[in-house]
Amino acid sequence: MMNNIVEIFEKIYCRPMQVHCFAPGRVNLIGEHTDYNGGHVFPCAINLGIECVAAKRNNMKLRFYSTNFADAGVIEASLDALSYDGAWSDYPKSVIHTFRQFGYEIPYGADFVFSGNLPDGAGLSSSAALEVLTGLVLKELFNIPVTGQELAVFGQFAENHFIGVSCGIMDQFASAMGRAGYAILLDTNILDFEYAPVSDDDATLVIVNSNVKHSLASSAYNDRRHECEAALAALKNELKVSSLCALTPAQFEEHRHLITDDICKKRARHAIYENARTIDAAKALKAGDLSRFGTLMNESHISLRDDYEVSCAELDFLAETAWNIKGVYGARMTGGGFGGCTVNLVKNSCVETFMNKISAAYKERFSREAYVFAVKIADGAHRIKA
Ligand code: GLA
Repeated sequence: MMNNIVEIFEKIYCRPMQVHCFAPGRVNLIGEHTDYNGGHVFPCAINLGIECVAAKRNNMKLRFYSTNFADAGVIEASLDALSYDGAWSDYPKSVIHTFRQFGYEIPYGADFVFSGNLPDGAGLSSSAALEVLTGLVLKELFNIPVTGQELAVFGQFAENHFIGVSCGIMDQFASAMGRAGYAILLDTNILDFEYAPVSDDDATLVIVNSNVKHSLASSAYNDRRHECEAALAALKNELKVSSLCALTPAQFEEHRHLITDDICKKRARHAIYENARTIDAAKALKAGDLSRFGTLMNESHISLRDDYEVSCAELDFLAETAWNIKGVYGARMTGGGFGGCTVNLVKNSCVETFMNKISAAYKERFSREAYVFAVKIADGAHRIKA
């Protein structure tokens, strides 16, 4: 992240900035691909993210610059003609468009500079952070009365309708609503949530980035969603059920014959069991039972690998190798999948050896580097200074 983002702004646009905000990425501890099936998720905001400085203009012009996409230079657009261009600036544009669609007045354009330290395409939600951040900047620049939860909802709406990825609410919610030291147990069906303390006295969250870039926009994510919808439609032939995760695993076993397509049946099984695991995991954490929590993380990975089929050889190797390293309570792929990162819950005294062992094993197996780092659970999006 650039410390001198304010200077960059002033240099590029030759004017002072007005607001400076930050939005974090997230890591999901457990509850994967449940958020568009009415289930629970258990993410937390992390101490990596994106900053933005901005200032209003007195005409309709929008100008965007990112230190992460410096080659693209300053990208211009007009508030009156916000279209999808296939550039990184589609993300902030999508949120501006969404605010206007929801009736919030954005009377003028603005100049923006973004700068982040979240690895791109790594499953740590750089897109959601960018969306939530843009919403927060609009709120601060134009005095728009929106809550953190609304910032999350607008971010998701923008991603669904402007970017075209049918994602759930988890990533934007974690970025907007995160709290230092707490994971968020979110019931995505009714957006009810509770903060669960995650102590770092005993264990550390270690992220291992496979450096295999995923692309959620690739049709696979939307395919999974459609398969879940098909499974739900099949169940609805005989059952009154509003979402897959409204079913318990026992109810699923009783009615699974209604889903005749084997692929859809596997997808539904993942979502329903994963939801149950997530609720159990939150209970285990509350009880201080990290071993149980870790076991549930491992089961989550197996289900994502075998039933949901969103893992890849690199993520499987990283998770399976971690399971056999001393001091690892649990390890799983995190986020949408098809690349990106694993999240590992590691006993504090074993973190250093874990990092060394997993890096060496990955390099030996795939002849490429994994990027391994410990994260802290941090606050959600906030304004940095006036
Ligand atoms: C991506 C999506 C989320 C969620 C996860 C999988 O991160 O943006 O909404 O579906 O994948 O759990």
